[in-house]
Amino acid sequence: MFTADTLEGQTILITGGGSGLGLAMAKKFAALGSNVAICGRTEDKLRRAVREIEGERKGGQVEYYVADVRSYERMEEVLNEIISDFGTMTGLVNNAAGNFLSASEDLSPGGFKAVVDIVLYGSFNCTHLFGNYLIDQGQEGSILNMVTTYSESTGSAFVLPSACGKAGVLAMTRSLAYEWATYGIRLNAIAPGPFPTKGAWKRLIPDERAEEQFLSNIPAGRYGDKEELANLATFLMSDMAPYITGECVVIDGGERLSAGQFNFIDRLGSREELKNFFRGMREKGS
Ligand code: HXC
Repeated sequence: MFTADTLEGQTILITGGGSGLGLAMAKKFAALGSNVAICGRTEDKLRRAVREIEGERKGGQVEYYVADVRSYERMEEVLNEIISDFGTMTGLVNNAAGNFLSASEDLSPGGFKAVVDIVLYGSFNCTHLFGNYLIDQGQEGSILNMVTTYSESTGSAFVLPSACGKAGVLAMTRSLAYEWATYGIRLNAIAPGPFPTKGAWKRLIPDERAEEQFLSNIPAGRYGDKEELANLATFLMSDMAPYITGECVVIDGGERLSAGQFNFIDRLGSREELKNFFRGMREKGS
């Protein structure tokens, strides 16, 4: 589906691109011809990530910028540095996030604010700056926001700040997709389900018992592979998707469907046992 020049001519900033899903996307974009800029708070991590991305690179340039997305002023400097280093910026992936497990009644206002600042204000800061740049230049561009499967309709217990922040990011995606379509700016979102990354797992999956429960909710029977997510991100950022905007694509092996009323039956036995049981019910006429 993709060729070495699928993203040629693009310069994409990935926030939080020093690790996890951000790094996986950065590597994929670089392998498909894009210039890649990553930003994050920890220089060592960014430096190591650039070395990894360089290993995959096909033609484009790679740079890192030490920055906290919570600072509008710093992100303005970063955008200017990117434009000076690469000559342009064509895409933005709002990937930087913060999250931790907490009973909501025990959350401090500072804890709520820290996560919402990173997730919602961070995404707003970068989107507002990049959107203005594109509008001033009369240039088209694409923005991809990483949300979650609990942004849309359910929210989620024990991760209140993240649920609130990500729901806001999804609202921003749709609001601006309409408002900025006239400028040729596309905004889409990806809602990843369970993709094991060090940052998320150490904060969100406390032990083996939690991991077992978590896996049992995924009908695909496995976690997602970062490569699968990077492929989806590439498609949405590429010239293959010029008419897709305001969309949120879920990639979760079916996890979000686990609330289906009779799904629990699947856990009562093997598929063969269940089929026999259903046959028995039918024969009895019940
Ligand atoms: C309760 C906590 C806490 C915890 C921090 N706080 N950790 N409260 N439980 N585990 C509170 C602090 O007490 C403080 O409140 C406030 O939050 C800010 O904490 P700091 O450590 O000073 O802030 P900061 O260094 O900015 O850290 C931000 C952070 C941290 C969000 C708290 O976890 C972080 O930097 N995370 C980035 C990486 C990350 O979280 N990745 C996972 C994303 S996964 P006071 O009141 O003292 O000010 C994701 C996808 C979800 O989003 C889907 C997965 C399936």
